Amino acid sequence: MSNIVVIGSISTDFVVTTEISPKLGETVEGLNFERSFGGKGANQAVAAARISNNVSMVGAVGMDSFGQELLDNLTSNCIDVSNVERVTGFPSGSAVITLNKNDNAIIYVAGANNQFQGITSDKILNLLAQADLVVLQNEMPQEQIEQVIDYCLDNDKPVLYNPAPARVASKELIDKVTYFTPNESEFKIIFPNLTVSEGVKKYPNKLLVTLGSKGVLYHDGQREVMVPAYRVKPIDTTGAGDTFNGAFAAAIVKGMSIEDSVKFGNLAASLSIQKFGAQGGMPTMEEMKGSAWYEEKWDFE
Ligand code: ATP
Ligand code: RIB
Repeated sequence: MSNIVVIGSISTDFVVTTEISPKLGETVEGLNFERSFGGKGANQAVAAARISNNVSMVGAVGMDSFGQELLDNLTSNCIDVSNVERVTGFPSGSAVITLNKNDNAIIYVAGANNQFQGITSDKILNLLAQADLVVLQNEMPQEQIEQVIDYCLDNDKPVLYNPAPARVASKELIDKVTYFTPNESEFKIIFPNLTVSEGVKKYPNKLLVTLGSKGVLYHDGQREVMVPAYRVKPIDTTGAGDTFNGAFAAAIVKGMSIEDSVKFGNLAASLSIQKFGAQGGMPTMEEMKGSAWYEEKWDFE
């Protein structure tokens, strides 16, 4: 049994679909409003848990009614939430998302997510001691992220670090993690002086750059590997990166090669974006197997 521990944000998404995005000071009429579950950490945990058992979430939500719904949603996706704290004085995390012609703009408000205090209890230490992979993103304080990465380095725990939303990351920090998965715009902020090709060559088998409908680029130490995305018609690409990261994590802990894990992540993301909401379309293993592109050699029972 392989354990994935996701440490990250848990938020409610407030999603407006519109044909016109308002300029500052302008009011426009939108087409639709929906509330859905989000937060990059929770999204990645759900993507992994739809495919793999033994996914645990670590983070914080508020005492508000959203907090309880966020916990219930994780639990109903078979994710262990015994290390998600409920904090007073801060609202649960939220994101206001505008969907316009299948592309999105997001304002994220951390709220309780920024109250995660790091590895402060024996309970979290015990959980991390059982982890086969620890998954992190950037919707919580940098200090806590670095503390977890240092703990994992000292204790030989592989880390998948998805630096989203973008923050400057030092070479020292990148050196400490096992997989580093920016999208193209995050890559440009983190490596302003490098092309994507130059970047992946510097970090073979570690730096995996997601390139939207083009797929994922990495370097295997001998050659550059471009793993193309599957050709689909997206309805809502919110959470494409999260689905990729969660499914990639599930495949890696299963022992699949990096190339197959990337293909697996691409397939999960391509299925996810054909439905509304960050988590709405994240595929189960059954749905993965139902795809014409599923490869028998992946051998998930
Ligand atoms: P988001 O911020 O919307 O969650 P992202 O910008 O972090 O996503 P992307 O690089 O856009 O991440 O996409 C992640 C992966 O999702 C891609 O590598 C690809 O596998 C898949 N994907 C994204 N967009 C498409 C698309 N239009 N068609 C097929 N696959 C896609
Ligand atoms: O990656 C998508 C997620 O980022 C959304 O679910 C939203 O919560 C945002 O922060």
